[in-house]
Amino acid sequence: MSAPTMLDDASVTSTAVNGFTLGDSDFAFLCSFVYKHCGIVLGEHKRQLVQGRLARRLRALKLSGFDAYVELLRCDPQSELGELASAISTNVTSFFREMHHYDLLIDELLPRWLEAKRNGGRLRIWSAGCSTGEEPYALAMVLAEALERSGSRVDARILATDLSPQALDFARRGEYPLDRLGGVSEARRSRWFLRGEGAYEGLARIHPRLRELVSIQPLNLLHGWPMRGPFDAIFCRNVVIYFDKPTKHKLFERYADLLDQGGYLFLGHSESMYGLSDAFDLVGRTVYRKHAA
Ligand SMILES: C[S@@+](CC[C@H](N)C(=O)[O-])C[C@H]1O[C@@H](n2cnc3c(N)ncnc32)[C@H](O)[C@@H]1O
Repeated sequence: MSAPTMLDDASVTSTAVNGFTLGDSDFAFLCSFVYKHCGIVLGEHKRQLVQGRLARRLRALKLSGFDAYVELLRCDPQSELGELASAISTNVTSFFREMHHYDLLIDELLPRWLEAKRNGGRLRIWSAGCSTGEEPYALAMVLAEALERSGSRVDARILATDLSPQALDFARRGEYPLDRLGGVSEARRSRWFLRGEGAYEGLARIHPRLRELVSIQPLNLLHGWPMRGPFDAIFCRNVVIYFDKPTKHKLFERYADLLDQGGYLFLGHSESMYGLSDAFDLVGRTVYRKHAA
């Protein structure tokens, strides 16, 4: 069966995708469930997309229809949450995406932090919504290089978290097809990746030194956070784009609580804190600095 065309009106209701029809009440339940647990706002215009993406999940679970899926979510909301979120959100990412953020780290922030903390200080960066790991590993590359240059003995770590179990599995494996290394310079490719051979031909594996620096953990940004901080920087890029204003506001206030005084928050290219928090000053392109309370 070919994919149905995108429709914006109620006629979508009766359109089956891969044999499954997402009726009004099941769609309404999914919208409120996804908003409550993932902060993502799904409108009527997303019904077709949700139906198509979740049809695959229904088949994988061998369910008879969306009513059975809704029942599963009602009975055990937590266990299916990651899979549901993965199905409806995008994991698109890349190494050194939005390079200007890395330039700021390399040229200004890391040298300053490492100097200030050189006598045994602690440096913490959080990649919140790390997807398949390209962002935290790129951060680890510039951090490892800065540590080497400075010769300082700072206790430096990167925390990488996401909601999607598949994305986290991929990040933990740390093996990337060569065509996903587009943003990585030749020098960094040979320094920080191990070329696969035999069965691993065509793959590049992340260097163990970078793995040491990065801790990968499941975390829903809307739920409780086990870590206490403080963080020197939080990267939350291209994550809040589907969140509504109250959800973003709450999240930015929580980030402010966890950041060190003068700590930095990096957002994605189409995201902004405008009108959402008084705790930060805009100090660069989608770069915010927590000011003194
Ligand atoms: C487009 S990717 C961004 C990856 C990376 N930060 C970047 O900019 O390239 C968005 C990620 O946010 C994650 N995400 C969305 N909602 C989330 C939530 N409530 N808690 C944790 N992660 C979430 C998704 O699973 C996805 O991997």
